[in-house]
Amino acid sequence: MDKQVLDKMLRPKSVAIIGASATPGKIGYTVVDNIIKGGYTGKIYPINPTCTEILGLKTYPEIEQVPDEIDSAIITVPAKVMAEVVEECGRKGVKGLIVITSGFSEVGRKDLEDQMLEIAARYGMRILGPNIVGSLSNSDKFNGSFAPGLPFPGKASLVTQSGALLIALDMATYTRRVGFDKLISIGNMADVDFADLIEWFDEDENTTCVSLYIEGMKNGRKFIDAARKSSKPIVALKSGVSAHGAAAAASHTGSLAGAAKIYTSAFKQAGVIQATDLNDLFNRTLTLSQQPPMKGDNLLILSNGGGVGVLATDAAEKYGIPLKFAPADVQEELKKHMPDFGSAKNPVDLTGMAGNDWYYQTTKFSFSHKWTDGLVVLYCETAMTNPQEIAESIKKAVDESGLKDKPITVSFVGGEKSDKAMGWLVENGIPAFGAPDIAVNAMASLRDYARLQEYKNSDHFETDEKAKQMALDVIAKARADNRDSLTEIEAKEVFKAYGMPVTSISLSKTEDEAVALGKKIGFPLVLKIVSPDILHKSDAGGVKVNIKDEAGIREAFQTILKNAKAYKADADIHGVAIQEMAPWGTEVILGSVNDPAFGPTVMFGLGGIFVEVLKDVTFRVTPVSHAQAEEMIGEIKGAPILAGVRGEKPRDKKELAKAIYQYSCMIYDLQDEIKESDANPVLVYEEGTGLKVADARIILKAK
Ligand code: COA
Repeated sequence: MDKQVLDKMLRPKSVAIIGASATPGKIGYTVVDNIIKGGYTGKIYPINPTCTEILGLKTYPEIEQVPDEIDSAIITVPAKVMAEVVEECGRKGVKGLIVITSGFSEVGRKDLEDQMLEIAARYGMRILGPNIVGSLSNSDKFNGSFAPGLPFPGKASLVTQSGALLIALDMATYTRRVGFDKLISIGNMADVDFADLIEWFDEDENTTCVSLYIEGMKNGRKFIDAARKSSKPIVALKSGVSAHGAAAAASHTGSLAGAAKIYTSAFKQAGVIQATDLNDLFNRTLTLSQQPPMKGDNLLILSNGGGVGVLATDAAEKYGIPLKFAPADVQEELKKHMPDFGSAKNPVDLTGMAGNDWYYQTTKFSFSHKWTDGLVVLYCETAMTNPQEIAESIKKAVDESGLKDKPITVSFVGGEKSDKAMGWLVENGIPAFGAPDIAVNAMASLRDYARLQEYKNSDHFETDEKAKQMALDVIAKARADNRDSLTEIEAKEVFKAYGMPVTSISLSKTEDEAVALGKKIGFPLVLKIVSPDILHKSDAGGVKVNIKDEAGIREAFQTILKNAKAYKADADIHGVAIQEMAPWGTEVILGSVNDPAFGPTVMFGLGGIFVEVLKDVTFRVTPVSHAQAEEMIGEIKGAPILAGVRGEKPRDKKELAKAIYQYSCMIYDLQDEIKESDANPVLVYEEGTGLKVADARIILKAK
């Protein structure tokens, strides 16, 4: 990640603006103006070939003529002269370049981007951008951008792929009072990417939460690794789902994917909190930048009105922290600070009579009580109370508790005075929102963050070298035949190598051979055509099920061959597979897709209409841990079916989780070979009796 280089680039002691201009309205002018107006205390060197002074600063015609060392160079010259300028920076010994200029890969000129990267690599320089607004740092009073000004100060830092969004959000930080230390526009991410910045922020003492606006990424695994290692909460808003989804839609599994679900899974695996929209990104960022994680499930809600209490209760259930009644001793104490008609259960209703002291007493008591893992305080503006005084009472109670590892969020519902009081709370480190459900959602982010920290560190797999070699041998045989898909028999050999229980299957070339094999396997049987040219066997009339005797085998054998020839006269037919007919079980599907950002990714869902119509599937980036496999089973909508509905016994979820794990190992290990694959259907039996892969398909990557 080159910490020192990024330090210099983003927190420079000296900065050059190459393409600085004396003409107001030009980007090269605005950047210099912004740096000065932001109060930057380092040295500023405008570089311009034609003028001698910009905004009172001496200019230099070339960066190499600057007598001092330069930490960071902000570049605002047109793309066509970029190579020359980057080369000059290299010779000058600058290490960090902030390239604002557009006109690179975003408009099909990847060649210009590559040229710039090649020069930068030669000199050991790192590049932010190109095609960016710039980089801003409150703690360094450094506005190296053409955004309107430094953001409302705070402890979060934002990295955005959309420069326009940075500009838009920059001033909104004041109206929303969400404080940021750094705003970084990352643009085309030709070099410095999200992962680099996540790593860098981990060591930035002025950042307590990293906020990301993501349109897409090239190296998803680097992102997951960096996020997993991060000791700070990360909140991400992902947009541009549909376009990316189209790229992934090359296969059956891919079309079910849409990248959205893969990103959601990857965020989970990386311990990243996902925001649903811009408001949510702001709210969660504010909360996670100001409050510690919520380490248990006991949420207490204080309010002065039944309505907001009920809304908050609904939200608590919706966002995954359902309320429980507070223990008797908590209720007893709370009753001392409310009239008889109040309620000390949870949510606590102090009633409209609640004034400063009741808020102070109950906040202090409930926040300090060991039962409480998180506190949400709600207030509806009344004529008898002053919102500012209520805010101060809450803050005083929290401060006096001395607790730094327990979270609180607040919601005031009212007018201007309430708004002002909430602003004061936020400025004093207590996130406050205009609606009770948002305050609860914010608390849920803190709970999610704590849960994700456990989740992201769940166990991981080790490659089973023997299994891998067996699978590679099968694949090598197919490659030697110039095939890019495995037959079902071969595919099952690969699945079996990784420990998955597959139905017994053997190849027969003649009718007599089929009969002999059938007797050995045992009735009932399934007969299937084996041909690399016929992948959709049923469509070709190439499958016969429930064959119960020798005569059935003979008849099915002949019919299948006849149908196959009619379907594709020149098909390369290897023979007919004789397969054990697995007893009925709950049908599930396992599939794999190579996501453009995250690589080999596993899909799981219930089979049949659940997958075809409802697309009730879930994904994980491989390798998948046992714990993650269990989560996958639990998170599909059809999960209750596996748990056993209408008097049915539960299905063998333990073996299913094992199979998902084994399949994920297979996909991960063989990622250079397998383009896509599936096991469909997998028949899952009652608890303790396992499962069977009834059909398997593997398509190889072209080599
Ligand atoms: N060294 C130093 N300065 C140089 C130079 C060099 N090799 N070559 C040119 N310059 C100077 C020019 O003389 C000019 O200064 P001037 O105003 O005194 O004449 C300045 O650099 C800018 O060059 P110019 O040709 O006037 O370009 P411009 O200002 O019209 O546009 C960009 C330059 C970078 C702003 C433009 O190409 C661009 O990319 N705009 C989009 C940026 C953007 O929106 N990014 C964010 C996307 S979210």
